[in-house]
Amino acid sequence: IWLKEKQKEEAPRPPSDITVFGANCTLHGLSHIFLPGGVTFRRLLWALIWTLAFFLCISLLCTWSWNRILYLMSYPAVTKIYMVWAHNMSFPAVTFCNKNVFRASSMTKDDLYHSGYWMDLMYPNHTVIKRSLSILKESHKPALLGLLDFQNYTPPPDYLVNTTEMMSRLSHQLEDMLLECRFRGETCTYKNFSTIYTRYGKCYTFNSGLDGNPLLTTLKGGTGNGLEIMLDIQQDEYLPVWGETDETSYEAGIKVQLHSQSEPPFLHELGFGVAPGFQTFVSTQEQRLQYLPQPWGDCKSTPIDSEFFSTYSITACRIDCETRYLLENCNCRMVHMPGTSTVCTPEQYKDCADPALDFLVEKDNDYCVCQTPCNMTRYGKELSMVKIPSKASAKYLAKKFNKTEQYIGENILVLDIFFEALNYEKIEQKKAYEIAGLLGDIGGQMGLFIGASVLTILEIFDYLYELLSKAIFMLEKVGTEGKHATAVCTCDSMKLST
Ligand SMILES: *[C@@H]1O[C@H](CO)[C@@H](O)[C@H](O)[C@H]1NC(C)=O
Ligand SMILES: *[C@@H]1O[C@H](CO)[C@@H](O)[C@H](O)[C@H]1NC(C)=O
Ligand SMILES: *[C@@H]1O[C@H](CO)[C@@H](O)[C@H](O)[C@H]1NC(C)=O
Ligand SMILES: *[C@@H]1O[C@H](CO)[C@@H](O)[C@H](O)[C@H]1NC(C)=O
Ligand SMILES: *[C@@H]1O[C@H](CO)[C@@H](O)[C@H](O)[C@H]1NC(C)=O
Ligand SMILES: *[C@@H]1O[C@H](CO)[C@@H](O)[C@H](O)[C@H]1NC(C)=O
Repeated sequence: IWLKEKQKEEAPRPPSDITVFGANCTLHGLSHIFLPGGVTFRRLLWALIWTLAFFLCISLLCTWSWNRILYLMSYPAVTKIYMVWAHNMSFPAVTFCNKNVFRASSMTKDDLYHSGYWMDLMYPNHTVIKRSLSILKESHKPALLGLLDFQNYTPPPDYLVNTTEMMSRLSHQLEDMLLECRFRGETCTYKNFSTIYTRYGKCYTFNSGLDGNPLLTTLKGGTGNGLEIMLDIQQDEYLPVWGETDETSYEAGIKVQLHSQSEPPFLHELGFGVAPGFQTFVSTQEQRLQYLPQPWGDCKSTPIDSEFFSTYSITACRIDCETRYLLENCNCRMVHMPGTSTVCTPEQYKDCADPALDFLVEKDNDYCVCQTPCNMTRYGKELSMVKIPSKASAKYLAKKFNKTEQYIGENILVLDIFFEALNYEKIEQKKAYEIAGLLGDIGGQMGLFIGASVLTILEIFDYLYELLSKAIFMLEKVGTEGKHATAVCTCDSMKLST
């Protein structure tokens, strides 16, 4: 009998039995409760403490996991800055403009007649303003004064002012300005520059990558491995200032911008100035910035929807937006703006385009809002300067360029642009927390708080499955028994009818 009972006791229990599940489950501590044998004080204590601890730990686990999920949903990002060394680096595009838009000596009577109002020299009815005339008289510009005598002048019939052509012809020409040019020891000429229009009129870009010129690279850092240009800014040609318009400048010198070839220059806002009488050293370092799009960061990841530009940059967006604004408000575009619509006449510049653009830049903060692009190249720079010419070299330079010493001192400038070292700084925004991190954290907390893993969860599912199949089995048994007896199961109408 004892043997029989022992056998009966040791008969395998079904897997759906809670004690079997409890004894085999890998959830820590659970097996202490479901040890084979009878109920003991130790097991009761285990059951009590285990249940308490289990629910405490489950709540801690839920709180912490929720905290981690919230962190993931806040899309955290970190910024990484590191240096990348390169064997060679492509040189930036260098754009410069003379601060003076029109040369006095190349003005013709027609030009003055049509643009005098724009230059604040005349009334709209082509009468010269007395105040401007008196300033001109004192500034010894007899040639200009002669041109301003419109007594016996009749404008040529059906003469159409072409502002682009006028600006191109009246601007400082690079052939005259560029005295010397060197790139990595190799001489260059004005032909190595391409022309571009900006708000400063006609400007010139070195290494633009346009006109079939290949992009230039440097293999070393330091002066001598970059660009060196000597310019004559031709102050004698500067238009005398008699009024205040957007085109007049009180300063002498050039504005320079270093930019990547895919980005149009935006000199009047982003350029730095270089003064005559100095040699300016610009030591630059390339920075490649990479931002994350929404929701981590706030950069623009969609392609540009512009008919004028193919790559998105803040300046391309600004120029595009300003062009659209002027087309809406003045029905014309400025010379430097892209597109094929008609260029504003000097009168339109004065009456509409200049004030509209000034308003847009200074007052209207809603119209041109341009997002940061996700990929951006900028050039950090450090400027330093020395005087040129020195007392020792003034005579030599004057002789070399056939100018007076005073002219050399007032007009010559040398600009050196070079890489500081052959490396670039990469500034990268990265996702700080992703799904893998979340899983790791939740897994770690599951292990820490309840000693469970995904496999434990599988065990629980397995147990639930066993329970369910047992329940279904019982239900079916009841159903078949009910056929012989009276109806028990109301839901089993099929079987009832049979
Ligand atoms: C610059 O480096 C690239 C690859 O890194 C190479 O293909 C190219 O020929 C190099 N240019 C010069 C001028 O050495
Ligand atoms: C042109 O306009 C100015 C002011 O608007 C006026 O003083 C001048 O008399 C006008 N000249 C002619 C010839 O109409
Ligand atoms: C104005 O001049 C430019 C350059 O000289 C030329 O390309 C353009 O076709 C001219 N525009 C008109 C309307 O004549
Ligand atoms: C300037 O242009 C000429 C011909 O267009 C070319 O041979 C030369 O290499 C260029 N110089 C530089 C420094 O790019
Ligand atoms: C930004 O540059 C990286 C590599 O330099 C490239 O993988 C990525 O596609 C670029 N993103 C955009 C939006 O141009
Ligand atoms: C130097 O310039 C003056 C006028 O500025 C000119 O008459 C003279 O021919 C020039 N000399 C040379 C050698 O070019």
